[in-house]
Amino acid sequence: MKPSTRIISDKWLMEERWDWGKLVTFIPNKKLPVYSWFYFKEGFSRNFVHLMIDLFKLEDGSMVLDPFVGSGTTLVACKERGIDSVGVDIAPLAVFVSQTKTADYKVDELKSIAKKMLQERFEKQDLSKVSRFTRRFFSKPTLEDILFFREKIKMIEDPASRNFFTLALMNAAMKASYAYKDGAVLKVVEKPVPPFRKFFKRIIKKMIKDLERISFKPCRIEVYLGDARKMDFLEDEVFDAIITSPPYLNKIEYTKVYAIEYELFFGDVKIDPVRSYIGLNPKNVSDEFPSYNLPEAAKAYFNDMRMVFEEMFRVLKNGGRASIVVAGGVFPDRVVESDILISELAEKVGFNVDKIIAVNKRVATTRRVVKIGEARESVVILSKS
Ligand SMILES: C[S@@+](CC[C@H](N)C(=O)[O-])C[C@H]1O[C@@H](n2cnc3c(N)ncnc32)[C@H](O)[C@@H]1O
Repeated sequence: MKPSTRIISDKWLMEERWDWGKLVTFIPNKKLPVYSWFYFKEGFSRNFVHLMIDLFKLEDGSMVLDPFVGSGTTLVACKERGIDSVGVDIAPLAVFVSQTKTADYKVDELKSIAKKMLQERFEKQDLSKVSRFTRRFFSKPTLEDILFFREKIKMIEDPASRNFFTLALMNAAMKASYAYKDGAVLKVVEKPVPPFRKFFKRIIKKMIKDLERISFKPCRIEVYLGDARKMDFLEDEVFDAIITSPPYLNKIEYTKVYAIEYELFFGDVKIDPVRSYIGLNPKNVSDEFPSYNLPEAAKAYFNDMRMVFEEMFRVLKNGGRASIVVAGGVFPDRVVESDILISELAEKVGFNVDKIIAVNKRVATTRRVVKIGEARESVVILSKS
């Protein structure tokens, strides 16, 4: 389909590519080997990353950064093309998933660990260390089985294999739980659940088969637990491209829906979502756009995003490109056009705004009645020169 283009805000080129709408969602990844190892509602697709790799003419030897790596889509897609990449995320779960999807494995070793582990004799587990909150989501035998395998996995020596089986266990545990992620809330729904052990075996088998199906090329990948607003662990001017999607403006914070995963598999990791996540700390923010009279949450968001852009500009090489997926923020009285404000911010820190590609739009209403505007999802393409 040929895109239509028009000038917006008197200066930027906006291209309409509604056929890309699905590409900025996680849906196409659900059937793909490795990409599907963790369902991440906020993710984008492999094909989106490949499209950007082609647009930016990246090849082996290039280096890509995703400062909001989420479930690691950018890194896995780069590994398929043999492109070096670095991922950063504030959430330990995202870092763990990204590392596990991109590690190098010896399939025969995984097979033999799996065989041995699944034949081990069950030992009774002490459930008293699990919080009452988490216990409500499982039947007693299922939770005992999960803890039993968790202990067995802890004894695997090779860290990559340990992560591999932990991810399999996490997926099986959640499938065999009564947990239902309803937006930002975790609910107990006593529904029929698949038998845990059978499911665990099936997931391990599928993950191993995925490794045999996917074709990765040799390259270097690093994943950091860190804050995109302050990436002092990255050197200046090292990246050829940035491909990323930051949290969307005024979206619910989803960290709480992973409370069970965190408790069972990450022990005592503590993060402060209010201070660490983009746009959640409305205190002491400078207003980037005083003339727009933005809602407080939007001021906090763009204040944080300015810091992110300064960091992205610093680490990108001269001649480097960036692709940022953003969406309009819906507030009770209006829609804030994030793509335009993000472009303004990027320009303020020194980027050139090459174009804005609109990929999705939806009508925004107050209490599903009065139309207050149109929320656009767009890809902002930037360059540094
Ligand atoms: C929209 S998701 C990215 C999804 C990713 N493109 C994928 O395909 O899985 C945004 C991510 O930003 C992370 N995040 C939020 N605030 C952050 C911060 N200050 N620094 C780094 N990562 C942050 C969240 O934990 C989340 O994983």
